Amino acid sequence: MSKEKIALAYSGGLDTSVMIKWLKDKYDAEIVAITGNLGQQKEIENLESKALSTGASKFRFVDLREQFVEEYIWRALKAGALYEDVYPLATALGRPLLAKALVDAALEEDCTMLAHGCTGKGNDQVRFEVTFASLAPHLKVLAPLREWEFTSREAEIAYALEHNIPVSATKKSPYSIDENIWGISIECGVLEDPMVSPPEDAYQITISPEKAPDAPTVVELEFHEGIPVSLDGQKMSGLDLIIRLNDIGAANGVGRLDMIENRVVGIKSREIYEAPAATILHFAHRELERLTLEKSVFQYKKNISQDYANIIYNGTWFSPMRKALDAFVDETQKPVTGLLRLKLYKGNVTLLGRTSPYSLYNEELATYTEADTFNHKAAAGFIHIYGLGLKTFSQIHSGR
Ligand code: ARG
Repeated sequence: MSKEKIALAYSGGLDTSVMIKWLKDKYDAEIVAITGNLGQQKEIENLESKALSTGASKFRFVDLREQFVEEYIWRALKAGALYEDVYPLATALGRPLLAKALVDAALEEDCTMLAHGCTGKGNDQVRFEVTFASLAPHLKVLAPLREWEFTSREAEIAYALEHNIPVSATKKSPYSIDENIWGISIECGVLEDPMVSPPEDAYQITISPEKAPDAPTVVELEFHEGIPVSLDGQKMSGLDLIIRLNDIGAANGVGRLDMIENRVVGIKSREIYEAPAATILHFAHRELERLTLEKSVFQYKKNISQDYANIIYNGTWFSPMRKALDAFVDETQKPVTGLLRLKLYKGNVTLLGRTSPYSLYNEELATYTEADTFNHKAAAGFIHIYGLGLKTFSQIHSGR
């Protein structure tokens, strides 16, 4: 009888390398290692030979970047999804897509088990496994980090050396870092003390605001129905636009975030984020909505943003609720078309100007000059009726 196969979400790091050997022995199974590219800069060459020499019977690499932008990032941007008002959700948004890619590969390769390298106290295990349950409930899920015998990195390294598993010679960063094009998440080491301000070496791509250029950088962003389509007058793909904006923002110290957040599993954790493009795009998008959305839609949508962020963070991307909210959000985005001019300067993004064919700003109504067309006299009647309830209440309760 041929062996059972396990599809492993493989990063090439120590944990998932050790995992290939560990899973093979424990389950007497073949391992199919799968790596998804979400735009991480980390080395992705040599992964195939590394996975195969470590004992995998097959390696698959999937470039998910374009799909990540078009089907995940843009939806989150249109929804205004910032977890607890701060985190643009880079790691959280990538997980359902990676999990889906793993499921797709597993089904093609006739695997019966899915394995991942997430720890037992984080959000990512939840996101992976809830996605597996939504897409392929019949496959068995393995989370070795929750079960195996290694209690330290040293123990893992010893196991790796014993079994000829290549251990990277480069010194391990004191931080735990997760990266994709929507942002970088950095935790552990000295960052675990929330009173310690992040050392400069914690930041991977942004320059410190103090060292940023003394001259501001001005950028122009054009949106079509809630999605950015051009940068500085140049139409480009979403992927290129995000990559360019990350570079420009990082060079101006934009997009550093330091946050205490509420994890799904009940822990408060401290995370540092770097998300230049996400910071700039969320800011610009919201400013365009201020100009183009009808008042009640603009104000109501804030609740939806929060619900949408929770869905992403909590790992329920593949849910009827997310689809239903997408329908609402897409309806709101029809007029979110226009141009914004922004200034990036020493860690800040500010707005220089905005314009839209669907702008609801009416200068004739807003002006205090001769050109004013607002009916001032009508305000008196409006206020009389608008305040009537409170007036009546006050008369009864204060007797005046
Ligand atoms: N706190 C973030 C989240 O749950 C990032 C998790 C991964 N962080 C890391 N530094 N490896 O989405």
